[in-house]
Amino acid sequence: MPQILILAAHPQLHLSRTTRALIDAARGAGLGRVELRDLYALYPDFLIDVQAEQAALEAAQLVVWLHPIQWYSMPPLMKLWLDEVLSYPWAYGAGGSHLRGKDLWLVASTGGSEASYHPGGYNRYFFDAFLPPYEQTATLCGLRFLPPLLLHGAHAVSHEELQAHVEVFIERLRSYPDWPELADMQSCPECIVPPSERPQA
Ligand SMILES: Cc1cc2nc3c(=O)[nH]c(=O)nc-3n(C[C@H](O)[C@H](O)[C@H](O)COP(=O)(O)O)c2cc1C
Repeated sequence: MPQILILAAHPQLHLSRTTRALIDAARGAGLGRVELRDLYALYPDFLIDVQAEQAALEAAQLVVWLHPIQWYSMPPLMKLWLDEVLSYPWAYGAGGSHLRGKDLWLVASTGGSEASYHPGGYNRYFFDAFLPPYEQTATLCGLRFLPPLLLHGAHAVSHEELQAHVEVFIERLRSYPDWPELADMQSCPECIVPPSERPQA
């Protein structure tokens, strides 16, 4: 069974409704092949153990980034995790094959409603417009970027809507890699950073 690594990042998990519900459900679902790493609990000092994180990545086939959207992007510790763990040449570049062939799944929530993510709404862009940095980060590392699971309007959804979202999340974790849409997905294009675009040794 392919292993799953969930990297959860919420700066104030005690105030969270959505992310906490997803974490609690993943922990309680008895999914033996899932490792959940709560980054803010592991690294309250922001001192990330890069070797431990890379070892966790090596063991997984599906990597899940679970976090609330903050300023149209990811929380700061998640970004630091990218900066430090997805290092050159371990994660990308000519020798960077440690992540190649794995899958990346973004599971995120927004305060803004789906309608707000529209040229006529206060967020002015469809939500998809904020995804290319995620997708290309994944692709540069050889990770296939799976269709994200999003909950918009997270503060306004009913208990039932939140529960339905949690159920989809758990069902997906249970059934991976047997997701209908994966059959038609192309593999990840190769992106090699030339040495001339790296700092001089
Ligand atoms: C610092 C900060 C920045 C945020 N930026 C955004 C944003 O850019 N777009 C948005 O829709 N919601 C934004 N939000 C709202 C969060 O996405 C929302 O509170 C979260 O998804 C709810 O999930 P939770 O219950 O797990 O906290 C922001 C919240 C905070 C605290």
